[in-house]
Amino acid sequence: MKKVKPKVLFSKEEIQKRTKELGHEISEYFKKNLQEDDSLIVIGVLKGAYIFTADLVRELDVAAQIEFVRIASYGDNTQSSNVIKAPDLSLPSNIYGKNILLVEDIVDTGQTSAFLKKYIEEQFKPSKLVLVSLLNKPSRREVQIEPDFYGFEIEDKFVIGYGLDFAEKYRELDYLGELEGRLS
Ligand code: IMP
Repeated sequence: MKKVKPKVLFSKEEIQKRTKELGHEISEYFKKNLQEDDSLIVIGVLKGAYIFTADLVRELDVAAQIEFVRIASYGDNTQSSNVIKAPDLSLPSNIYGKNILLVEDIVDTGQTSAFLKKYIEEQFKPSKLVLVSLLNKPSRREVQIEPDFYGFEIEDKFVIGYGLDFAEKYRELDYLGELEGRLS
């Protein structure tokens, strides 16, 4: 299949610069809370946050234990179905009571992040639970939730690339692009 090149919203260089800044800010925040021999537990949300998580952890200046959960709510269109489908939430018990950084690709309606925060809080009673999202789309929010840190705020656009997909396509793009017009 031929590779299409959607319009650039944030370039590879812009994402790298912002990820570096976030890594620094998040490290400074957690340095105060982490004990000498403690790691920050980083939980990336698959699939959308796989690239952002990989890049962000390499900008952290604190020791990290990397975990992933998997959740899907979009299916093959650009409107969230608001149904958390087939989640894989298996996490090791050694994260109980720790400092946790939850890494999202985008906070859109907020349903996914709210669900995951509640689940982690209830199951693992973290001493701190911080949400970082690469993108923040506040105009579409349905539940009251704000990321503690985010890379870029965007309008109501459907964004693809750098881990984000439309119907499982475009995740491999090294920039964030815009799909012109909502597709369904
Ligand atoms: P929520 O609506 O905040 O629960 O977001 C659910 C998930 O939908 C996100 O984690 C993304 O994977 C996906 N999503 C939301 N907005 C976009 C977008 O603009 N492009 C690609 N995926 C999106």
